[in-house]
Amino acid sequence: MNILGIETTCDETSAAIVSAGEDGAPVLHANEVLSQIAEHAAYGGVVPEIAARAHVEVLDRLIERALAKAGMRLADLDGIAVAAGPGLIGGVLVGLVTAKTLALVGRKPLIAVNHLEAHALTARLTDSLSFPYLLLLASGGHTQLVAVKGVGQYVRLGGTIDDAIGEAFDKVAKLLGLGYPGGPEVERMAEGGDPERFALPRPMLGRREADFSLSGLKTALRVEAERIAPLAERDVADLCAGFQAAITDVVVDRARVALRSFADVAGHPTALVAAGGVAANGPIRRALAALAGEAGLAFVAPPLNLCGDNGAMIAWAGLERLRLGLVDDLTVPARARWPF
Ligand code: KG4
Ligand code: ZN
Repeated sequence: MNILGIETTCDETSAAIVSAGEDGAPVLHANEVLSQIAEHAAYGGVVPEIAARAHVEVLDRLIERALAKAGMRLADLDGIAVAAGPGLIGGVLVGLVTAKTLALVGRKPLIAVNHLEAHALTARLTDSLSFPYLLLLASGGHTQLVAVKGVGQYVRLGGTIDDAIGEAFDKVAKLLGLGYPGGPEVERMAEGGDPERFALPRPMLGRREADFSLSGLKTALRVEAERIAPLAERDVADLCAGFQAAITDVVVDRARVALRSFADVAGHPTALVAAGGVAANGPIRRALAALAGEAGLAFVAPPLNLCGDNGAMIAWAGLERLRLGLVDDLTVPARARWPF
């Protein structure tokens, strides 16, 4: 079974091809990802109109390249999977219309994939993990703790009531004059910093529900930054280190709470899984690995190139859905919002 996956929901354009053999084991043949970071950097965030146009310009070429790398033609595919949301609607439409056209012309099944579901299932592509597992999904637009019970079976155990974790990293980076996207910049600056110089809050720590709130932490950091301005490089490093340490503490505490409530909804988890762009963060990964170890669970996080947005995760989620007979017709809509 060979599936083409198309991703255009945010600022990465991607086309990938994933297969599963008779034994169900996945093979990733190609994962062409073109980031638009340079186009958006000057604005400190993604500009929807620029994003949509950039997807239009490169998507066809990326699909051709993915097929060439896999040594396949349209006729060799068994399905066309596409992220139909949630995301920036202009970009989602670019991917969806392209996928519908290929499905129609090539007479292939169309699989409309929820982008968040794709992040959630990536660990099964990379680590052949079995259900159920606890997922921390943390990206620029989403922060959720989810019991993943099966394909299409997700129970939300907690989420953010204000900023997403990646968004908080991005906003802090902007505030400190660092580049976009902020996560990798803050992580890099934090390496040389003193995490204890500034006493930053750990919002929601100890609460019984597995929810997050990050706006207070961001505000506390802004107050500190304004108090000591103008900022020297050392100050920026210490603020980054303090912020990253606070977020890490919060993430571990919230994940611990979610693990406690997991049994009530899904039995015993096989693993703790981190997904989404924030899962690329070294200290957060290490802290979650330690928490999983304490709980006697495996810790799984996709390799760095599969943490951020990519077509491989869409192709894989499409494959998982197709083998359960979950396909869509050509009327399936693009969705800006699509809880999962
Ligand atoms: O999943 P993703 O590529 O796109 C969305 O669907 O949002 O996640 C991007 C987010 C951005 O907010 C980015 O700053 C954050 O993930 N991110 C990180 C790191 N790398 C990316 N946050 C913290 N540390 C990182 N190393
Ligand atoms: Zn994403």
